[in-house]
Amino acid sequence: MEDRVFARELQDKMVPIMVLGMGHVGIPTAVGLAELGWKVAGVDQDLAKIAILREGRLPFYEPELQELLSKHLASGRFIPTEDVEGAIRSATVLFVCVGTPQRNNGEADLSQVEAVARMIARNLNGYKLIVEKSTVPAITAQWIKRTIQRYAKGGNTNSPENPGHVSGSEISSRFDVASNPEFLQEGRAVHDFFHPERVVCGVDSEQAWEILAEIYRPLQCPILRTDLNTAELIKHTANAFLATKISFINMVADLCETVGADVMRVVEGIGLDPRIGPDFLRPGIGFGGYCLPKDLRAFIYLAEVQGLDFSLLKEVERVNQRRSEVFLKKVHQALWVLNGKTVGVLGLAFKPNTDDIREAPSIKIIQGLLAEGAVLQLYDPSAMRNMQAIFPEEGGRVKYCSLAYDAARGAHALLFLTEWDEFRQLDLAQVRNLMEVPILVDGRNLFAPAQARAAGFEYISIGR
Ligand SMILES: NC(=O)c1ccc[n+]([C@@H]2O[C@H](COP(=O)([O-])OP(=O)(O)OC[C@H]3O[C@@H](n4cnc5c(N)ncnc54)[C@H](O)[C@@H]3O)[C@@H](O)[C@H]2O)c1
Repeated sequence: MEDRVFARELQDKMVPIMVLGMGHVGIPTAVGLAELGWKVAGVDQDLAKIAILREGRLPFYEPELQELLSKHLASGRFIPTEDVEGAIRSATVLFVCVGTPQRNNGEADLSQVEAVARMIARNLNGYKLIVEKSTVPAITAQWIKRTIQRYAKGGNTNSPENPGHVSGSEISSRFDVASNPEFLQEGRAVHDFFHPERVVCGVDSEQAWEILAEIYRPLQCPILRTDLNTAELIKHTANAFLATKISFINMVADLCETVGADVMRVVEGIGLDPRIGPDFLRPGIGFGGYCLPKDLRAFIYLAEVQGLDFSLLKEVERVNQRRSEVFLKKVHQALWVLNGKTVGVLGLAFKPNTDDIREAPSIKIIQGLLAEGAVLQLYDPSAMRNMQAIFPEEGGRVKYCSLAYDAARGAHALLFLTEWDEFRQLDLAQVRNLMEVPILVDGRNLFAPAQARAAGFEYISIGR
């Protein structure tokens, strides 16, 4: 292919795409693009994941994803491959969806992103658009560019694809970097891929813009064109703001308890104001998962490096850290002594419709309950296998149940830690009959207090 991408090739979806990183973002992106008609290769350094995908299975649970995976393995439009370098050389558009975990100081660890940039540099055999989808701090795209320039020049001068010495400006003309942050939510990733509220494209070349605009055109949502740094900052700002909403309403919930008000009605009352809105104002045991906690810390760190003390966000984090203590205190107040008591725990995933337990609040709560000597009966519709790696079933202190009702059997209290729909459908009369003592401690406000009390429970929830 010449060092250009032509409008006709784009329209005919003849431009080969690859996705680097077959995780919670990478797989929905890859099969979503395949569904839009593109031919997509998927790679991961974890070859076990590629093998699983080849067999037509998923390495994690995500609604609707299995169907799309099966469909596009069959259509041949999605090809998982171990041949990373070959896939890079064959691809024109490369979506980078690798992990950006946090370091001990909160800073984003960008070593996976750097590794990918160096690999792309070694295989720069024609024009490539490198699309940064991973969540990264501002100026990362500039670093990707610099890295590719450095390593393409020095590292591969004698390869057949890149013979002889090439100048820095020649290399620059062979690739663009774009920032296209991902906003999907686990548990609804497929829905979010096809129905995003907006797509943000940070670009600094017309070619990059034309390619991304064509790829996202069928999605019929606003496509915002910005510069690279702005696009990167939009993602961190969005997550920091969402985290702020959650910590804010959690503090209001605590205040509601002390003054005798109902936080759910407060949310209704403020949410009707369009300047506020009702979303992301669910009081509970705090936010977890792979995004909000680490992205908040990375944003605080970024501000600090720039000489700004974003103390507002430090407080957001502190409030969130305390949520598990607030919840454990409620359990204590309900049960008095925990030692030797059987406690049922419903919900382990950090949110419903996923098996992801990364930074799930349930982990700290389980640790706290075990430290007090409680005997736990745990149940989650899909996250139990992951949780077993942290809390194995040993010594009779931790038991995983195959049904929610089994977790309630003989329990002195039943705790709700994730708002799975399945829990809302429970027959409360049956739950009460199974329990030793009918106490519900609801960290997600799944039930109306009157409903739970009418079913015969002592019912403790958040902010009501
Ligand atoms: N999970 C979410 O809900 C979500 C939403 C929006 C944005 N993000 C961001 O997207 C990025 C990916 O998140 P995720 O949840 O998909 O992570 P993940 O851990 O599920 O997946 C990342 C994948 O990248 C692979 N990888 C690492 N280095 C690689 C390399 N050199 N070459 C090929 N593959 C490599 C890993 O093996 C892993 O499979 C992160 O920056 C995250 O912050 C995540």
